[in-house]
Amino acid sequence: MTVVAFFSQNASPDLQNEWQKRLQSYDDRIKLVPLLSNEAEEATTALLWKPPLDRIKDLKKVKGLISLGQGVDHILKNNLIPQNIPVVRIVDPFMAKTMSHWVILSILGFTRDIYGYYHQENSKIYKPRKEIDFLSPKIGIYGIGAIGSVVLKDLYNLGFNVEGWSRTEKNIKNIFCNHGHNGFIKMLSNCNIHVCLLPLTKSTIHIFNKETFALMKKNSCFINAGRGDQVVEKDLLASCKSGHIANAILDVYEEEPLPENHPFWDQKNIRIWPHVAAETNPETAAKQIANAIKCINEDKLPPNTVDRNLGY
Ligand code: NDP
Ligand code: OXD
Repeated sequence: MTVVAFFSQNASPDLQNEWQKRLQSYDDRIKLVPLLSNEAEEATTALLWKPPLDRIKDLKKVKGLISLGQGVDHILKNNLIPQNIPVVRIVDPFMAKTMSHWVILSILGFTRDIYGYYHQENSKIYKPRKEIDFLSPKIGIYGIGAIGSVVLKDLYNLGFNVEGWSRTEKNIKNIFCNHGHNGFIKMLSNCNIHVCLLPLTKSTIHIFNKETFALMKKNSCFINAGRGDQVVEKDLLASCKSGHIANAILDVYEEEPLPENHPFWDQKNIRIWPHVAAETNPETAAKQIANAIKCINEDKLPPNTVDRNLGY
């Protein structure tokens, strides 16, 4: 039997059963047990979403940790996991496509003024609003990895004017790609719609702040489905209040769930989504997780093991 400790913050109790079923269809020796149970101390692997990290040190037999998402910041934070334990993430084309749909929806909501029309509908106003030509806004995608590169290409194929930003230089047919610090500054000032799809690391924490919002064009739209800690929230709020940022569409926050008394709720040009832009899908992700469990148990490095120095 392969004992795997399981934890997913705020998930329904059925989720563990669902994963158990999906994983057993690839390897019937896999047995998921709750991370907080005594049985977890026999686990050689753990499957985790926002776990209590203190508990990991009790798992003396653990040889690898697997994130239940594409991001691993929830496991690497505070540097509590020893360097010799590989940390693996999901890379699922289904999630990339789901994210792409959410970003397209958010951009179309902005360019087609969807909330303006909802408001008019509620007040029985039948009148065209100011049209934004979809070719005129320039869209910048910050983070063009497994997810961002799909979003970038899908937007390009829809006829949008799009460019990307990454840490290392990229060459994507027909699409202009920036990289490094200078590329960041260029994209901030060139684009009207800014989409953050970055992993949270020591280099990306708080990169959207007073100074960087000020570099964006007036009336910009800011979309974040990366991580909340990439944004200084009080600076975003101030930019939205002043109208410098015309609209923000957010899926992720410094504190999740977003507290009831958070000022974002009352800011009319900030749209709130509850971290659902691209949810993990057990059906499409189980095969690679079953393989990662197998690799860890055979002392092999699984595909999509993250680079601990880079943090993603
Ligand atoms: P990848 O690791 O595949 O891609 C990350 C991208 O960010 C790469 O292009 C990388 O550059 C770039 N990057 C990283 N650090 C820097 C830096 N310092 N400067 C410039 N660019 C940088 O990640 P994914 O695409 O799989 O996922 C990205 C993030 O999306 C996740 O970490 C998670 O936070 C978030 N996410 C959110 C979801 C949601 O529902 N809201 C769902 C899934 C993911 P390079 O290519 O040069 O390495
Ligand atoms: C992820 C997420 O990292 O859902 O997969 O945020």
